[in-house]
Amino acid sequence: MKLNEHFSDLQDSYLFSTIAHKVAAYQQEHPEKEIIRLGIGDVTLPLCDAVVQAMHRAVDEMGRKESFHGYGPEQGYDFVKEALQGYYAKRGVVLDLQEIFVSDGAKSDVGNILDLFSSENTVLIPDPVYPVYVDTNLMAGRKIVYLDANEQNGFLPLPDPSIKADIIYLCSPNNPTGAVYSRDQLKAWVDYARECGAVILFDAAYEAFLSDPALPRSIFEIEGAKECAIEFCSLSKTAGFTGTRCGYTVVPLALEQEGVSLNKLWLRRQTTKFNGVPYIVQRGAEAVFTEQGQRQIHKAIDYYRENARMIAGALREMGIWFTGGENSPYIWLKCPGGLSSWEYFDRLLTEANVVGTPGAGFGKNGEGFFRLTAFGDRDSTAEAVSRLKKLSLSN
Ligand SMILES: Cc1ncc(COP(=O)(O)O)c(C=O)c1O
Repeated sequence: MKLNEHFSDLQDSYLFSTIAHKVAAYQQEHPEKEIIRLGIGDVTLPLCDAVVQAMHRAVDEMGRKESFHGYGPEQGYDFVKEALQGYYAKRGVVLDLQEIFVSDGAKSDVGNILDLFSSENTVLIPDPVYPVYVDTNLMAGRKIVYLDANEQNGFLPLPDPSIKADIIYLCSPNNPTGAVYSRDQLKAWVDYARECGAVILFDAAYEAFLSDPALPRSIFEIEGAKECAIEFCSLSKTAGFTGTRCGYTVVPLALEQEGVSLNKLWLRRQTTKFNGVPYIVQRGAEAVFTEQGQRQIHKAIDYYRENARMIAGALREMGIWFTGGENSPYIWLKCPGGLSSWEYFDRLLTEANVVGTPGAGFGKNGEGFFRLTAFGDRDSTAEAVSRLKKLSLSN
């Protein structure tokens, strides 16, 4: 037998283990220091009451013979899909229920979607990037072309007509950079994809953090996108479902390649390899989209937004260049004093006792940049901000 040799193309993921190791070593030497973590990409606030109540009711249903649920539809119950249909309709996007697939999160679907495509396709991936896009393609032996995201283009690269791609990854609001594409910029991507017959894989995991109504929350707000794009979204950051697990993927009925419907292929893939999201979780997901659920999740999102606003305000005061922070829970800053990502990490850790994520861990263009997140609690974020300001004085 032979193993998949492409696993050897993967780089070991040293980023978070190196961070953990450095933090542990510092803490051991300085047990009296209180370290604040602004590197985490996990939420810290609990599920909202509407979700918890809905899940309690669902648990009770599952415990009674007459309301018990066994296997459900692989692509999700209609009650969640109808809730999502209503959510998209609010911004003028009309979806057929068949176009919506409820999943156990965006990470699985972003990886699994590749089952639909030949390993001979060329993939276009912005750098820096959410590492899952890179690793899932390397595992399949696909050729990757990187697209430079940098300070000059505000970490929002636009299509380069000299590059021919088959699959294009876009993430907006972006992890790690927090940068957000405008409607015109996304239109340029849609036009390019249609021109070269490519499929855009659009990751909207952070759409709920958009506060500027002029910015697109879904690629399907852009004319022509239903012919060239698939959208992935998640309740992880939207509603604190990182541990509960629920997301959704939209594969338009109008999306075809070589005369074949991608929606039909994805349905076939999911019904073959996936048995659906737990009923209890789907009842919780449905509750996110009720009036009460929306009010409650937006309270949590506003809390994180305020954290982001505080961090962004401090960076502005310090004259540090950054993206994100306004329509995104991530703040991507240029390391002051020309420091490398890891040099800045070390200084923040040892002089301010604040932990962030070195940008170099997200791709070569991340070198010299640094990611902070707004998912911490208010008091420690405020304390971290005041320490950051003090640190800048000694730069
Ligand atoms: C850009 C992006 N997409 C997808 C995910 C994964 O989301 P989920 O928890 O739904 O798998 C994350 C999580 O950090 C992310 O940053």
